[in-house]
Amino acid sequence: MRLSMIGTGYVGLVTGVCLANVGHDVVCLDIDDAKIAKLRKGQSPIYEPGLDELLAHNIKAGRLKFSTDAWEAHQNADMIFICVGTPSDERGHTDLKYIDAAADTVADVLLKLGSNQKPKVIVVKSTVPVGTTFRVRDRIRAKVGPTVPFEVADNPEFLKEGAAIEDFNKPDRVVVGVENDRTGQTMRDLYDPFVRNGHPIFVMDILSAEMVKYAANAMLACKISFINEMANLCEAYGADVSKVREGMCADKRIGGQFLYPGLGYGGSCFPKDTLACIMMGETRGVPTPVNKAVHELNQAQRERFFSKILSHYKAKNAPGGLTGKTLAFWGIAFKPRTDDIREAPAITLMRLAMSYGAKVKAFDPVANENARKELGANFEIVDDMYEAIEGADGLIVSTDWDEFKSPDFARVSKLMRQHVLFDGRNLYRPSQMQQAGFSHYSVGRAPVVSC
Ligand SMILES: NC(=O)c1ccc[n+]([C@@H]2O[C@H](COP(=O)([O-])OP(=O)(O)OC[C@H]3O[C@@H](n4cnc5c(N)ncnc54)[C@H](O)[C@@H]3O)[C@@H](O)[C@H]2O)c1
Repeated sequence: MRLSMIGTGYVGLVTGVCLANVGHDVVCLDIDDAKIAKLRKGQSPIYEPGLDELLAHNIKAGRLKFSTDAWEAHQNADMIFICVGTPSDERGHTDLKYIDAAADTVADVLLKLGSNQKPKVIVVKSTVPVGTTFRVRDRIRAKVGPTVPFEVADNPEFLKEGAAIEDFNKPDRVVVGVENDRTGQTMRDLYDPFVRNGHPIFVMDILSAEMVKYAANAMLACKISFINEMANLCEAYGADVSKVREGMCADKRIGGQFLYPGLGYGGSCFPKDTLACIMMGETRGVPTPVNKAVHELNQAQRERFFSKILSHYKAKNAPGGLTGKTLAFWGIAFKPRTDDIREAPAITLMRLAMSYGAKVKAFDPVANENARKELGANFEIVDDMYEAIEGADGLIVSTDWDEFKSPDFARVSKLMRQHVLFDGRNLYRPSQMQQAGFSHYSVGRAPVVSC
């Protein structure tokens, strides 16, 4: 099939590359000239394991092209995928301006092609408030009039950044919302090569498909906030959350995934999708106390962790409280194996530390460039994990990258001015830290105070 992607972010680019890789002809469209220029040279604007190789392979095979021109991208497409961002404000109102703009460019192309064309399927892949696919349909229809044929579908994406290629190629399930069987069959044909493992394709109505995405993300966010709440209770009662989680997760009904205590979730999805659930509830008068609690707990978790830093240094809880202290951060991305720093707990903590007067030095294996753009020159971002801790009074481990899991503690000791570790991801055992002579603060476990 001939396909076009609107938006070459984490979802659009991965979708385009993976669909080209099974043989489709794909054009990826973006309004960002710099991204398209980079992609045309075969360079990915985002970090995603395995993406560079697939990008190069499919460009070379002539199946994958990039454009900033909507006509060029869509005129021959059988299916057009809308993969633009759907950010939300602080209360959860989803900003649909990118979706609307994408719908408008599609409408312009359809109008130009006229009534005598094979109906294209316009697939909404972005995560959208329930009802948005109909909004897209109605917006296009209003522009093109009653005779121009097209179909719509909703096809939420469940990939995880850091494992996006693997997730797209071997999804646990594919969810598709359609208005008729013909479009359902087209979507089944498209995804058939990806479910050879026997995993299901669920074809359903559009509203339910849109809701599946929110339900799934809200559930995952809920698990993270739940284990953090239990971790906080463990701290208050002297229990050890790592033992509690083992004992709890051995129950098959519970399982262990997404039940790791830490700094809470970040990224471009869970925070906004939980808020969107709250807002969808408010819009229709449906209480959503679970989502509200999940969100509040998640935000509070960062501040709770920061209060451990203040209390270690006996710093006053006011601007200037950390003046004279240098704090190092290992990890800026919101999770390992991605360069995405949107809503990253590290960014919140770095900003807090800076606002309390601390000097901040940070390192991330792949997110440094994004962090420099986001944070500006006041934050020192360095290219080596050991350089970050030189002369530091404390080290905050804020992302659980593999390379932070077994550092050279003797070297760490030598380089740091004070031997204090704030382990936001529970990477190190308290007993191990005690032996190594560090003060160690983690989540849901007793602190070690060595100095
Ligand atoms: N990132 C994830 O892990 C993930 C996973 C599942 C679903 N989603 C959802 O997918 C959607 C996209 O997320 P993302 O992380 O890929 O976003 P992103 O911000 O990384 O990328 C969006 C891209 O769309 C482009 N764009 C905006 N308006 C455009 C237009 N009118 N025409 C062409 N291009 C346009 C932007 O320039 C940008 O490159 C969101 O709704 C998100 O919630 C994201």
